[in-house]
Amino acid sequence: MSSIVDVNNINMTFYTLEGELNVLKDLSFSLEEGKILALLGPSGSGKSTMLNILSGLLKPTSGEIDIKGKIGYMFQRDNLLEWRTIMNNITIGLEIQNKLNNEAMKKIEHLLRIYDLWDFRNNYPRELSGGMRQRVALIRTLSVDPDILLLDEPFSALDYQTRLLVSDDIYKIIQNEKKTTILVTHDISEAISMADSVAVLSRRPANIKAIHDINLTVKDEKTPLTARKAPEFKDYFDTLWKELDVNEKE
Ligand SMILES: Nc1ncnc2c1ncn2[C@@H]1O[C@H](COP(=O)(O)OP(=O)(O)O)[C@@H](O)[C@H]1O
Ligand SMILES: [Mg+2]
Repeated sequence: MSSIVDVNNINMTFYTLEGELNVLKDLSFSLEEGKILALLGPSGSGKSTMLNILSGLLKPTSGEIDIKGKIGYMFQRDNLLEWRTIMNNITIGLEIQNKLNNEAMKKIEHLLRIYDLWDFRNNYPRELSGGMRQRVALIRTLSVDPDILLLDEPFSALDYQTRLLVSDDIYKIIQNEKKTTILVTHDISEAISMADSVAVLSRRPANIKAIHDINLTVKDEKTPLTARKAPEFKDYFDTLWKELDVNEKE
């Protein structure tokens, strides 16, 4: 299969009043269509910077990026507007681009129905649970019909139990919609349970220490919850734990 994302030798240096900050060092990876890649790295290693570069919000200091498709970017915070209803939060991207036609509206209604948010379309964000807000944010991202999803720590604001359930929901949505996905996380278990492959980032300046293909033996349908019960899970965890340098001092 051919790759839909190709990242070659990306370097990123921020020039600030305090001096230069090298954030990304010679980062390379590629991703096949329909696959989920997790970028796993410690906090402050440059994960969000990488997504900002992939989405075109930032220009790298050097390196090449080849992306064959349209990007949908879900930021670290859900960024729902409290004064707009759920429906009006979802339509805002298309509204701004002047692309909110009948067809787009039908698609949004369909997504709201199948992902259990239809009854809440006229509610406001504060009336929804953290998990529902994440689903709304994902549907808003899907509404522009992207080929590649960039998800920046989508579950980090949720408490542990909710995070497990919501990652299951979000995973099923991604699989249903057949989206190629780059998931940024600092959570080892989340990376193993969601992704087809995991790229481990070093501390700043981040480069890729290793990329692991994840192959789990799961009895029923694979979801992040069933994946955690796979016999191989613990071995992957140990390997990634060692590589992540979680115990190293800054
Ligand atoms: N626009 C910017 N200007 C200067 N420094 C930045 C900028 N954006 C991020 N940084 C710094 O780059 C480093 C990596 O940030 P980030 O990509 O947000 O890390 P992560 O998402 O892995 O936690 C941090 O030290 C952060 O302070
Ligand atoms: Mg970040």
